[in-house]
Amino acid sequence: MSASSASSASGAPFRPVPGARGGVITGWGTALPDKVVANDDLADQLGTTDAWIRERTGIAERRVGGTTAGLAAEAGQHALERAGLDASAIDLVLLATTTPDMQVPASASEVQRLLGTSGGAVDLNAACSGFVYSLVTAHGFLAMGAERILVVGSETLSRIVDWDDRNTAILFADGAGAVVLEATDGPGQLRGWDLGSDGSLRHLLYAEIGDTMKMDGREIFRRAVRITVESAIRALERSGLGVDDIDVVVPHQANIRILTAACERLGIDPAKALTVLQTTGNTSAASIPLALADGLDRGRVHPGDNVLLVGFGAGMSWASAVLQWQSPPR
Ligand code: COA
Repeated sequence: MSASSASSASGAPFRPVPGARGGVITGWGTALPDKVVANDDLADQLGTTDAWIRERTGIAERRVGGTTAGLAAEAGQHALERAGLDASAIDLVLLATTTPDMQVPASASEVQRLLGTSGGAVDLNAACSGFVYSLVTAHGFLAMGAERILVVGSETLSRIVDWDDRNTAILFADGAGAVVLEATDGPGQLRGWDLGSDGSLRHLLYAEIGDTMKMDGREIFRRAVRITVESAIRALERSGLGVDDIDVVVPHQANIRILTAACERLGIDPAKALTVLQTTGNTSAASIPLALADGLDRGRVHPGDNVLLVGFGAGMSWASAVLQWQSPPR
């Protein structure tokens, strides 16, 4: 392998393969635990206020509870119903999560059992970039002959949050979002992507096995804006599009100030960004499919729209994808 093809910090040098089979998202669904934790519920214990959390993060409340596989299966079931498919039609479950329910086996195996899907089931951990990593990975499987893939982002971060740490306890929460991706002849929706990792930054956000998350929030903030901008630009270049061509942005839902600053630096109107973090908090790999599904349900995404998905997270890792939205064939 040449030094340049092994390079990571500048992003993987992938390009769409001409003539490869593409994919179309034909269904989407979400799942959130019932328990709502409002900022006020955290204020006394953490020595913070609702006003501080809203102003510094944009978050007003979050959901807590459930299991990663249970939430994933619920979101997956909704996505299957939307696509008009029986679970047995699914060739592969790709579960993006950084909070598996067990060390062994993969949580995707339990999702497969709960839903009754056919074929394989596997977890993918790229922290908060995991859903976009999985979406791009799923396109590789379609190019190799898979027909229908369930791509899910699901997290129960509340289990690895230190509820006495006001740095992290105000941010992270639980939830799941899923899409059904079906093969199509022709290029499909994915026009360009960018995947990256810089493992030298792992000290900025990590949890040892069995322990809670530790985070350098200020440094993550600074790098997240830069990474989002640089990764989005690479994905756009590879898709042959410019920032003016983007109709909708689906950013990782970490902090309203991060996503606003990134949009502004990109020269994209922040009003084009879909957001759910106000009511979900940061749900890591679930955040982008939660925002995408919410935007679709609200009619914010139309056939022909160019949609930029961009995630960043622990690793640090990052992942962007440019989709040209298509009407599901059915
Ligand atoms: N409530 C009240 N005060 C708080 C607080 C809280 N929850 N958290 C920190 N503070 C205080 C600090 O102690 C500090 O006080 P000081 O000036 O007296 O020392 C002050 O607020 C500023 O701290 P700072 O860490 O600079 O705040 P911030 O504006 O950077 O906000 C985060 C903190 C964590 C909200 C912000 O850094 C952030 O969102 N970073 C990105 C984290 C992220 O997205 N992680 C996930 C990546 S996938």
